[in-house]
Amino acid sequence: MALNFRSVKLSNWQIALFIGTPLAIGLGTYMYRKMNATTGGEEKKRTKGKIEKQATSIDGTAPDKEQERKQKSAELGEKLSPVKEANSYKNEGNNCYRNGKYDEAIIFYDKAIDKCPPENGTDMAIFYQNRAASYEKLQKWSKVKEDCSSSLTYNRRYAKAYFRRARAHEATKDMLECLKDVTATCILEMFQNNQSIMYADRVLKETGRVDAEKHMRDRVPVVPSTSFIRTYLQSFVADPLQTMNVPPSTMADTPARGFLRAHSAFREEKFDEIIPACTEEIESSESESQYKVEALLLRGTIHLLCGTYTESEQDFDAIIGNADADDTIRAYAYLKRASLFMQVNKREEALADFEAAEKLKPDNADVYHQRAQILLLLDSIEPALEQFEKAIRLAPNHAIAYVQKCYTEYRLALISNYQLRLEGVVRKLEQAIEQFPTCVECYSMLAQVMADQQNFQQAQQYYDKAMKLAPTNASLLVHQAVMTLQWRGDVDSAINTLNKAIELDPKCEQAYETLGTVEVQRANLKHAVELFEQAIRYSKSFEEVVHSYSLRNAAIAQINVTKDLGIDMNAISAMNQLSGTGM
Ligand SMILES: *[C@@H]1O[C@H](CO)[C@@H](O)[C@H](O)[C@H]1NC(C)=O
Ligand SMILES: *[C@@H]1O[C@H](CO)[C@@H](O)[C@H](O)[C@H]1NC(C)=O
Ligand SMILES: *[C@@H]1O[C@H](CO)[C@@H](O)[C@H](O)[C@H]1NC(C)=O
Ligand SMILES: *[C@@H]1O[C@H](CO)[C@@H](O)[C@H](O)[C@H]1NC(C)=O
Repeated sequence: MALNFRSVKLSNWQIALFIGTPLAIGLGTYMYRKMNATTGGEEKKRTKGKIEKQATSIDGTAPDKEQERKQKSAELGEKLSPVKEANSYKNEGNNCYRNGKYDEAIIFYDKAIDKCPPENGTDMAIFYQNRAASYEKLQKWSKVKEDCSSSLTYNRRYAKAYFRRARAHEATKDMLECLKDVTATCILEMFQNNQSIMYADRVLKETGRVDAEKHMRDRVPVVPSTSFIRTYLQSFVADPLQTMNVPPSTMADTPARGFLRAHSAFREEKFDEIIPACTEEIESSESESQYKVEALLLRGTIHLLCGTYTESEQDFDAIIGNADADDTIRAYAYLKRASLFMQVNKREEALADFEAAEKLKPDNADVYHQRAQILLLLDSIEPALEQFEKAIRLAPNHAIAYVQKCYTEYRLALISNYQLRLEGVVRKLEQAIEQFPTCVECYSMLAQVMADQQNFQQAQQYYDKAMKLAPTNASLLVHQAVMTLQWRGDVDSAINTLNKAIELDPKCEQAYETLGTVEVQRANLKHAVELFEQAIRYSKSFEEVVHSYSLRNAAIAQINVTKDLGIDMNAISAMNQLSGTGM
């Protein structure tokens, strides 16, 4: 994430505007629409009515007044039917429950279940559900699960029973089952209950995190696209690997070896030739090697970009541990190890490495700029601004640092709701374009601010200019696709643009993730799952991987649950096709 924080952070921020922050909400929108459509609204009314009732009582059953009235009349000598008798036991149970006497409550619910004719299924479901509530208070989790399951055999669309069973599954760390049940709850409640949605969101993040941890351990390294590597390299102004003058090969007939060969591959953007050439340098004998530390820095950088973090860290460690190495090289080893630490979610270590780099090279603009990017990523906006300002003081012509500073000011102006400052920032960005007319970042940043301000036409013009300068930059296309959705709600055009982005850069994580989210909205859950899996493969940082897994898991859970609940996804998709909003 630290590598391409600009694009990732901004696009997620835009996607959030479009979909709504909690993961489950975005994924639920279509379901809400479609279930209304399939059931002609009747389903909705029924379910909603149930939710309201549940909200008025502590344990998810209807208010007891009616039953109490009936019970009174029973005391006056009327003969109760079995189901009424069962309900009066339930009411006794509810009283005990309210007074914290859970064991006694259970005994009454036992009697209610005993008495209740099995054909009165709705009542039976409530009795089991209430008994489960008591067991939950006593933390008897397997009993809770058993009773919820019995409840659901009588009423398979009883949201409250799913929700309670979800909590029992969480208590026993059966997170997949928990996810399934909370997803069922959200679907049955038509994604209208904030409490369930927030719970689903938390479970998705947690299960996403577990999957991501495993993935990071056995991930397959991927050399990223040239455009991605360029974006990363352009964020440095004084990286010795990019500024150094390497003498050309002395004899034309002997091909360059070791670091010289690696460096010319680096210049020519032949990124997969770099690592072996660096290794050649690093493994050569002391006497014939002049560029050992440079080779370590370059190899570590490429490993970092490919996500081979162990190897990357070893190379940076070797430089940092070598007190004789040049201070500039050591400072950059710290800076790059800091990004690495961010990728694997070690924030404290990352910040400590920035400190160390600053000690070595207090006048280096990259130290402050790189740190500013990380701080912005961590939402430490004011400290980030301070760091951007230091970077620009040291390197006044650092266009990327400059527009990022403007963007940070924009964020601050938004937070403080300060219109004047907002206008000032927009003017600054416009001036930046005049000052740096070839800087892609200037145009794309201004475009994003314009889109954010609903000034879509102008945003499109800036994107067009950015595309002229960087026609192979897939990330620019992703941004435009998201804007198209915000602007016109034009799903087909957004999908076209996203597919173009994938064609341009088949490793563009953002494009897969965004397309996956759009496919979820169109009820193409299976395709969405495949797209999220691609996103996972090409994600660089732990946080990105967590996010993609959360989305994937949400989609899988919805596939499973709709199947179990008997909601026909094919019918839904077919309807989509008929109404022209589908595939
Ligand atoms: C219980 O079931 C019986 C038989 O199906 C039915 O006649 C009766 O109305 C039901 N009672 C309630 C309260 O649902
Ligand atoms: C849902 O609840 C959360 C946390 O209590 C709150 O921040 C959020 O604004 C609520 N959202 C809605 C749609 O009510
Ligand atoms: C690619 O586009 C993104 C914005 O979407 C921008 O931040 C980045 O600097 C661009 N990279 C290159 C190499 O043009
Ligand atoms: C969904 O169903 C598949 C196949 O039955 C299963 O392997 C998977 O664990 C389920 N996932 C969830 C989140 O329910």
